[in-house]
Amino acid sequence: MTAVAGRRAPDGSPYPDRASPEFAREVRAMFTHIANGYGPFDHVASLGNDVVWRPRAFWTLDRYRRGRGAPRTVLDVGCGPGDLARLAARRYPGSRVVGIDPTRAMLRRAARSAPGTGRASLAWAEATAEHLPFPDGRFDLVMSAFVFRNLPHLAATLTELRRVTAPGGSLLTLEITEPRSPRFRALFHAYFDHFVPWLGAAVGSAGPYRYLPESLRSLPGPAAMSALMTGAGFARVETHPQSLGIVTTYLAERPDDPRSPGP
Ligand SMILES: C[S@@+](CC[C@H](N)C(=O)[O-])C[C@H]1O[C@@H](n2cnc3c(N)ncnc32)[C@H](O)[C@@H]1O
Repeated sequence: MTAVAGRRAPDGSPYPDRASPEFAREVRAMFTHIANGYGPFDHVASLGNDVVWRPRAFWTLDRYRRGRGAPRTVLDVGCGPGDLARLAARRYPGSRVVGIDPTRAMLRRAARSAPGTGRASLAWAEATAEHLPFPDGRFDLVMSAFVFRNLPHLAATLTELRRVTAPGGSLLTLEITEPRSPRFRALFHAYFDHFVPWLGAAVGSAGPYRYLPESLRSLPGPAAMSALMTGAGFARVETHPQSLGIVTTYLAERPDDPRSPGP
């Protein structure tokens, strides 16, 4: 693991500090630390719900894009081990899908996973959401799952996502959100703020799984996130809660008119 300054949990695992100038490096160190166990841990911590969140997001997207046809060029931002990118490649035969992530250990896992993507092409590259190495309007679909809580400059990053989205193209993101029901919200917090960090500590990753609830507190909820998307130049923003609101699918589109002003 890369040696970085920053907080460490008692078990020595990294715990990124949002106030640190090294925050981006600390986030990478954290994802390097959990890269191997990330998929199985999420599966257990989400009580198996994670297997439906991503496919459901695509069903919602296809309804949203009705009349636009299947996307032919797709970017997965913060692809991690590549689950979302692989689903897109299977769903849109003939498409070209690129997954980017700044954490090499995640990209290695993505590249190692069985492709099973039929006629779609799938590629991986090291990059950050803040500086995407692609020309303007390159992708029919720009997507991302569970990444935004790691982005300190969300408004500017959304503008970067809009830049690489083709006119008429779509943005699809999935994020953890607070359930609306007060009772379920209390249960959600007990689970996320206490049980998940405890589970993380049990597998030698106390830092990352203490950072998880902390980082979610600084993540805008659906109304504020929708406003940020609109402010970044996206239109037709929709939010679709899943699993009683603990996850939200966000959909938006870059207006068709290529001359439409950015933010
Ligand atoms: C919680 S994982 C989600 C992975 C994957 N999208 C999924 O659905 O499982 C967050 C990912 O965001 C990546 N990440 C962190 N900071 C990033 C940044 N500034 N730009 C792009 N990706 C970033 C991490 O390396 C990590 O792979």
